[in-house]
Amino acid sequence: MTVHFIGAGPGSPDLLTLRGRDIIAASPVCLYAGSLVPEAVLSHCPPGARIVNTAPLDLDAIMAEISAAHDKGQDVARLHSGDLSVWSAMGEQIRRLNALCIPYTVTPGVPSFAAAAAALGAELTLPGVAQSVVLTRTSGRASSMPPSETLAAFGATGATLALHLSIQNLSRVTAELIPHYGADCPVAVVWRASWPDERIVRATLATIEVEIGQGIERTALILVGHALGSGDFQESRLYAPDYDRRYRPQSVASPWAGWSEGDD
Ligand SMILES: C[S@@+](CC[C@H](N)C(=O)[O-])C[C@H]1O[C@@H](n2cnc3c(N)ncnc32)[C@H](O)[C@@H]1O
Repeated sequence: MTVHFIGAGPGSPDLLTLRGRDIIAASPVCLYAGSLVPEAVLSHCPPGARIVNTAPLDLDAIMAEISAAHDKGQDVARLHSGDLSVWSAMGEQIRRLNALCIPYTVTPGVPSFAAAAAALGAELTLPGVAQSVVLTRTSGRASSMPPSETLAAFGATGATLALHLSIQNLSRVTAELIPHYGADCPVAVVWRASWPDERIVRATLATIEVEIGQGIERTALILVGHALGSGDFQESRLYAPDYDRRYRPQSVASPWAGWSEGDD
């Protein structure tokens, strides 16, 4: 018996990986994390599967479900939204599984920040503008932030920020970031990226609160940074005509001449 953690993706059922789909189809028990996992993903469960929404359960109750499946020798598909590496609560479940000597696997999923960037048609790392993306959040009821992980500290780098779990703190976000990025810095809020009712609001740090109005809450990402703005950035060296690289050596003397494997 194995517990299979599966990143179920940002919402659209066809953004589930093939591996995730096949594991769900082979598991007689499916535990899924509430409203962020689309119902259509559950249609991959085999007939007669035990399907449990874990949103109303606490950790002990979730572990009781897993232990019951363990006693019956039944594999469990454990679904969380997006990818499991960020804000999935997988870590505390794995700690309990390790203590119980129950094996597990992890199948990654499409994270919501990637779905939001896709909705915007945006590359978050533009040459000469931003080369880092910070996946972060502001403090909420359930989680406080470590003291050094402030918006001001991340803002001082000028990196592109992907703020999760923070739409309810939008006015604090803009106030803390304007000193670092400037009032005219582009912002995009993507609500329910990849769902049929997805919404996008583009504005600046100065105007986003007014532009967003009412009705956008909970499942939204706030993306901030100059990479979301104008087309004023350098082209990457990777595709420059004179750039010497393994697949396009520019001279016989090139260190890459004759190479045929790998890529930059
Ligand atoms: C508990 S976290 C889960 C993050 C998830 N593990 C991931 O990989 O994106 C929930 C937060 O992720 C963001 N989120 C999740 N799905 C989203 C979507 N489809 N569109 C926009 N934001 C989303 C929102 O900021 C939401 O408050």
